[in-house]
Amino acid sequence: MTLKSIIYENGKLEILDQLLLPSQSQYIEVKGVEDGWRAIHKMHVRGAPAIAIVGCLSLAVEIQPEVFTDKKILRQEVEGKLNYLVSARPTAVNMKLAADELISLVNALDKDELVSAEQMKKKFLGAIETMLEKDIADNRAIGDAGANAVLSHCSGDSMVRILTHCNTGTLATAGYGTALGVIRSLHSLGRLEHVYCTETRPYNQGARLTAYELVHDKIPATLVCDSMVSALMRARSITAVVVGADRVATNGDTANKIGTYQIAVVAKHHGVLFYVAAPFTSIDFSIPSGEHIVIEERPEREMSHVADHRIAAPGINCWNPAFDVTPANLITGIITEKGVFSPSELAKHLKTGSDYPHS
Ligand code: MRU
Repeated sequence: MTLKSIIYENGKLEILDQLLLPSQSQYIEVKGVEDGWRAIHKMHVRGAPAIAIVGCLSLAVEIQPEVFTDKKILRQEVEGKLNYLVSARPTAVNMKLAADELISLVNALDKDELVSAEQMKKKFLGAIETMLEKDIADNRAIGDAGANAVLSHCSGDSMVRILTHCNTGTLATAGYGTALGVIRSLHSLGRLEHVYCTETRPYNQGARLTAYELVHDKIPATLVCDSMVSALMRARSITAVVVGADRVATNGDTANKIGTYQIAVVAKHHGVLFYVAAPFTSIDFSIPSGEHIVIEERPEREMSHVADHRIAAPGINCWNPAFDVTPANLITGIITEKGVFSPSELAKHLKTGSDYPHS
């Protein structure tokens, strides 16, 4: 059975409720932009690519039944609602880039005198549906590029051991996954000995979601607490860390789930490869470095409680940044569907507009 986090059929959108996993697999319907914003904000759906896809599809289901005779009204509605969806969570860049791209499209269509309002709507919906298919194809390419990059450091047909953090799989994307896609590709090549996934406190994406996907796919895997990473690297030889990204700056600084930075520091200390796997749309060429990334702070309750049970002493203050920024100098390579880039190669891409895949 294929795991599906987003179902979009005949104009109806349903998402697997990630707040209920792994104990319950229940789909909830997203009927429009308000539902989409809430699902993203409350983290019924999470993961940078999935946020963008669900956000855009929530707009698609909302405007599908509407009839437009005036292109300006359609353009204004689309622009306002996309900007609203961007505000649901600030750190991941994918929703913002998707919104910018779709707003440019409606602006161009609005100016084109040969296009009617209904044709404009059709083209707009078509562009959103293409995003869903592109994400799966890109993830497969990321998986293959990442597997090759990791294996290029291994001799003969030796097996690899990977550590990952947070959830970057089918649940975080349209399917297959980014860092988890690399793990899936290594597994299907018969080169994966073992995966270690961190719990990923406080929201437990690793224990609840990545572990769920690994068990589902029968990939040999072990769960560790976030605080065990140094001990793990000392006790078991880890070939590479592979994580996802919410936003990569032009210099390669990478925002990802809180805890990623400390894993990168520990990997450097132990001489372990540290790869970031992300679609090219996670690279934000509008910012020079990670200092410009807004880090979302989430409610204290995510730390003080597990489900409805309070675990922290009443009265204690909590600080709950959802992401941190790993400096580029700790990153071996950034795996994208266009190839694997060293952090310094991203800036060259911006200057020339060409790709610089390295092996
Ligand atoms: O807060 P989340 O669960 O949305 O955070 C998700 C991550 O940090 C992922 O690693 C990142 O979005 C990449 S998902 C392919």
